[in-house]
Amino acid sequence: MICTVSMAMTPRLRAMTDAVRALYDRNRQRGFAEWCRREYDFVCPSMGTYPFQWFWDSCFHAVALSHFDVERSRIEMRSLLANQQPDGFVAHVTFWQRERFEELLSTYAIAYRTPYLSDCIQPPVLAEAVAAGAQGPGGDEYLRKMLPKVRRYFDWLDLMRDPDRDGLMATLQPDESGLDHTPKYDGYLGVSGAVLADYTAAWERVAGPYATVQREHARMFALDRFVDEDVFVNSIYAENQRVLGDLLERIGDEVGAHEMRTRAAQTTAAIVRKCFDEETGLFFDLAGEGERMLKVNTVSCLVPIVLQDLPKPQVDALIRHIEDPAEYAAPYPVPSVAMNEPSYLTPTAENKLVWRGPTWINANWYIARGLRRHGRPDLATRIEDRSASLVEGDGFREYYDPQTGQGFGARDFSWTALALDLLATHEAHA
Ligand code: GLC
Repeated sequence: MICTVSMAMTPRLRAMTDAVRALYDRNRQRGFAEWCRREYDFVCPSMGTYPFQWFWDSCFHAVALSHFDVERSRIEMRSLLANQQPDGFVAHVTFWQRERFEELLSTYAIAYRTPYLSDCIQPPVLAEAVAAGAQGPGGDEYLRKMLPKVRRYFDWLDLMRDPDRDGLMATLQPDESGLDHTPKYDGYLGVSGAVLADYTAAWERVAGPYATVQREHARMFALDRFVDEDVFVNSIYAENQRVLGDLLERIGDEVGAHEMRTRAAQTTAAIVRKCFDEETGLFFDLAGEGERMLKVNTVSCLVPIVLQDLPKPQVDALIRHIEDPAEYAAPYPVPSVAMNEPSYLTPTAENKLVWRGPTWINANWYIARGLRRHGRPDLATRIEDRSASLVEGDGFREYYDPQTGQGFGARDFSWTALALDLLATHEAHA
């Protein structure tokens, strides 16, 4: 649920709100950037490792902020879209204050469009983020200013990332999904999945040739090095096109609303028609020009549950997996890889590979909302409650052990504050 809480809060919700507010004050970045002559004001993912503005992180921050400071939720999105390019592209990282972090930057492997903007995308959580900030006074005016930019971004995705016109957008490198080392890519990338250095080499086999074609989209697609119609990304894409349709209707743009809803329906239909595997009852990515299914049982397979028009047989199939204690029904759900997959890994402080087992709050945010939409509040409520418990137990960490709840990865990690949205929903239905 995305709402500003007006009723008296429970002590639990009050404590979580206070904790998120304090976290977002610690991670707030404000200043004036000479390079674009603009003011910036955003929450960074984590001061230790990620001090810049990341695309989908900021979208999640805007959702969390909308619970206690709608104006800051709007400011977060304005900063994110301030450097949108004339073609509609929005970078996955904006390096507002890069001069202050040159040493850290030398450890990043990122393709740049300019010294201050990366040249990749991230899952398009943009419409959901803007919707969160559109509540309350000034909401319509905020939408009138923001929606033309949001629309241009979705037009860019449609034009540039779906050359086969099947309604599914493609990611062109593994980190564009945000699921960096997920085992679903192992076979496609030709890595064993055990060693971080293998990934660095595999990513270079993708990024190296891209550089030789000046990262021109048509030529990157033609190289066919990493072209993934990713189920996780496309579920978010379909949902956000639908939400954008609703927002456009709210400001009276009937034509735009119709166009975005049509696109949302096409994306959803393609996910169902092309990505669903009857045998396993799971959704899989389609890789390369040959659209080969990447059949690994990861949390990504479950995320289509967020789509409100997902047909009942597919919903039921996904719920069977979510409920299965051998796969996803862990003490702290939802693990990012089915626990009975050979590639499933218990997190450790030494292991820097991400999305190979631990529970992430942003994936939970999609799955819990999907379960509510499809009439399973019993399962949703457990994920909401357990997500909040993770934060209450071990703070705002990047990800958590699904068995013990122990936190790992970055500390003071901002998108984990989505636990506030999950908890608010949990309590609203209690
Ligand atoms: C890592 C993740 C990416 C995230 C970023 C900041 O690079 O792969 O998804 O946006 O950290 O949190």
